[in-house]
Amino acid sequence: VNEPLLAALREVVGPAHVLTEPDVRAGYEVDWTGRWRGSAEAVVRPGNVAEVAAVLGASAAAGVTVVPQGGNTGLVGGGVPRADAVSQIVLSLVRLDERGRVDGGAAQVSAGAGVTLTQLQAHAGAAGLMFAVDLTARQSATVGGMVATNAGGLHVLRYGSMRAQVVGIEAVLADGSVLSRMGGLVKDNSGYDLAGLLCGSEGTLAVVTGARLRLWPRPTHRVTALLGLADLPGALSVLSRLRSLDTLEAVEVMFDDGIELVCAHAQLAAPFSQPHPCVLVVECAGLDDPTNDLAGVLSGCPEVLDTAVASDSGGRQRLWSWREAHTEAVNALGIPHKLDVSLPAQRMAEFEGEVRALVTSVALGSRLVLWGHLGDGNLHVNVVGPPPDDESVDEAVLRLVADLGGSISAEHGIGVAKRRWLSLTRSSADVAVMTAVKRAFDPTGMLNPGVLLPAGR
Ligand code: MLT
Ligand code: ZN
Repeated sequence: VNEPLLAALREVVGPAHVLTEPDVRAGYEVDWTGRWRGSAEAVVRPGNVAEVAAVLGASAAAGVTVVPQGGNTGLVGGGVPRADAVSQIVLSLVRLDERGRVDGGAAQVSAGAGVTLTQLQAHAGAAGLMFAVDLTARQSATVGGMVATNAGGLHVLRYGSMRAQVVGIEAVLADGSVLSRMGGLVKDNSGYDLAGLLCGSEGTLAVVTGARLRLWPRPTHRVTALLGLADLPGALSVLSRLRSLDTLEAVEVMFDDGIELVCAHAQLAAPFSQPHPCVLVVECAGLDDPTNDLAGVLSGCPEVLDTAVASDSGGRQRLWSWREAHTEAVNALGIPHKLDVSLPAQRMAEFEGEVRALVTSVALGSRLVLWGHLGDGNLHVNVVGPPPDDESVDEAVLRLVADLGGSISAEHGIGVAKRRWLSLTRSSADVAVMTAVKRAFDPTGMLNPGVLLPAGR
């Protein structure tokens, strides 16, 4: 135990916010899946930006590395301590939960890194606007973590991912200086887009402490449809016709084995009177009721074999329930290998067929559950069975993705989980530039080492 460091940290944030008891630290030291864990000297919870800077200063002086953490809903091990680090702290940003006044004229709001997605959505909603990113972990995921991972979620096809919502950012650099562009300028071509660069930087370049965020008109009407289909190619041709709807917000895909698993786990009834191999959740929203337009498109889709529609909130929530329960249902089976990948649209169907055959042959007896954000070409490949440290299935699936022109991470990030394979889908020129950027921001490598960039960078 590094007593001088702990004393310095207590001086900065107060003794109540330097957590050292093993059972209090425990929840911060393991990720949600149980696959990634490590041990920290302390979990430190600063209450403002100056304290964040001082914590970084004390850590640098002590030669201790820093793992920034938001709501700890990440899935690639990037927000929990490294198993092999000598001395590290977890820097929890949850106390930075300030919400600024919603600026209706600009349709923007400032939020601290610790504001949860649910809180942000409620805050924007109370002012008659909407924060557009949505994801199942909304109750715990925080603004800082969502910026640092460039979170995606359910609405990317209409509004873009987190990066598209970020107008400005506030972040503390490794040397303690504060980067702040929170003035809300929509047009700002005065040099490099540092806010954009920090989106998706996974805590390796700076500690995000707040963001200026774009808001959207809040749709007054919403309709959700669950569609039963024979296969993914059919679903893709429905998707291409749905794209004509300017109210289209979500097109999510699931498969019969995943739905069966979810029904057993969450004690849900089957969605249709007979099972369908492939099921889509489609949602449209607008200032006018989009139901008729959606029905019009679907009536021209012979691939759709079964339909359930709801526009009231209870009914819509029910139609989302099978989709939203997937993550928990898979975790209940055992520690999953979570491979979040994207493919070019025209290779999606090929990938689905090939990945099923591949997983069967590489991880005999394992269970594969697929689902994802079809509208974004993003599938979540979840494999349960192989022990967490047996990465042969990860390797095989990610190589297949690379061969088909995809990305090894669509939205979860690289983290610890995929750094070995970064160069599968990023060129050596890409990795060299990223390494140079990392060195420029964090020359001593104190911020989230072991994440994103290959070992030795
Ligand atoms: C999802 O879309 O369900 C999330 O990315 C979480 C997950 O992949 O488990
Ligand atoms: Zn997802």
